[in-house]
Amino acid sequence: MAVATNLLLLTLLFAISPITMSANYNVINFGAKPDGRTDSAKAFLSAWTAACASKNPASITIPSGNFLVSQALFKGPCNNAAMKITISGTIIAPSGYSSMTDWITFKYVQGLSIFGGTLDGRGQAFWACKLARRSCPQGATTLRIGQSKNVLISGMRLVNSEMFHMVIFASNGVTVQGMSITAPENSPNTDGIHIQQSSGVTIQSSTMRTGDDCISMGAGSTNVWLERITCGPGHGISIGSLGGGTTDEEGVRNITVRNAIITGTQNGVRIKTWGKPNSGFVKDVKFEHVTMQNVQNPMVIDQNYCPGNVNCPNQNSGIKISQVWYTDVKGSSATPVAVKFDCSPSNPCNGIKLQDIKLTYQNKPAKSFCKNVKGSASGLVIPQSCI
Ligand SMILES: *[C@@H]1O[C@H](CO)[C@@H](O)[C@H](O)[C@H]1NC(C)=O
Repeated sequence: MAVATNLLLLTLLFAISPITMSANYNVINFGAKPDGRTDSAKAFLSAWTAACASKNPASITIPSGNFLVSQALFKGPCNNAAMKITISGTIIAPSGYSSMTDWITFKYVQGLSIFGGTLDGRGQAFWACKLARRSCPQGATTLRIGQSKNVLISGMRLVNSEMFHMVIFASNGVTVQGMSITAPENSPNTDGIHIQQSSGVTIQSSTMRTGDDCISMGAGSTNVWLERITCGPGHGISIGSLGGGTTDEEGVRNITVRNAIITGTQNGVRIKTWGKPNSGFVKDVKFEHVTMQNVQNPMVIDQNYCPGNVNCPNQNSGIKISQVWYTDVKGSSATPVAVKFDCSPSNPCNGIKLQDIKLTYQNKPAKSFCKNVKGSASGLVIPQSCI
């Protein structure tokens, strides 16, 4: 009995370092197995529960090896505002596919940082189902940050998600840095990072090569800063689609995309709204220092999105787009029309500004197309501005 008590004390001393007062929880001690076969979901969640209960900053260690995790929802609020997870290994999703819509989720957490790690969504079976046009479940997001605050994700790799690789939803103050996201070019709907109803989101020094948007911003995305983004293959960096629902949406405001290199994508920087009367807005958007390499549609505003042309009366978008500034956008277009602004007849785009644009098609100036656009151009602008 005395021996057991001493051991327990010793363990506690090691677990809670008296110097930093930060408790460390290794998932192995909670039963996780780095064998790629044993479901470690319960062990991960037990480690989280223990760390989350700590009143002092708490760190969780996921060592090297492959950890199979069937599904995990890490829920707050926690007793501390400094949860730290260090991942050396790879977390792998179950093979095949199921009806789950989110694989790894953090929800209601304030003060979380995650360093390193690879999350392998193993989406291959799910994509095969979709590509064969069978009836498939919705598919899973690999990593979801929901209803959380002050989150840092650093140096993580996300691969082969069934659906979106990462979703930032209803959160505030989320920084993603050094993220690498990879999925095959022909994998359907494997967006890199989707932001929705969130504010103060920074994504920097990150690379996305996927089958859909590198980064997409939905309704209610505000104060977003995207810097040093390498994108492609994929569908580019996109605001939208907006206004497709049955109710009006929150607006999108104060978005900056700076120093991006976009290669071989369907679109470069795009704003896309449904041709439906739902109201909403996109305001204060800056695209600066963007290099396009062989991009099919480098600069696009499309307010007539209406697949199948159903339920879009007159294709009049109710979304008001204003103050969109393009500065120093250069490179090559893979199609003759490099700049396409197709705005709503009832809500023309306003305050669209072009400065120092140089986009070529087959080493010659590309073309531009404008409809219902107001704004201005300055500096060298190729193709010649049609605003
Ligand atoms: C715009 O967003 C940035 C962060 O991306 C922030 O620093 C800045 O204060 C915001 N500007 C306004 C006017 O809210």
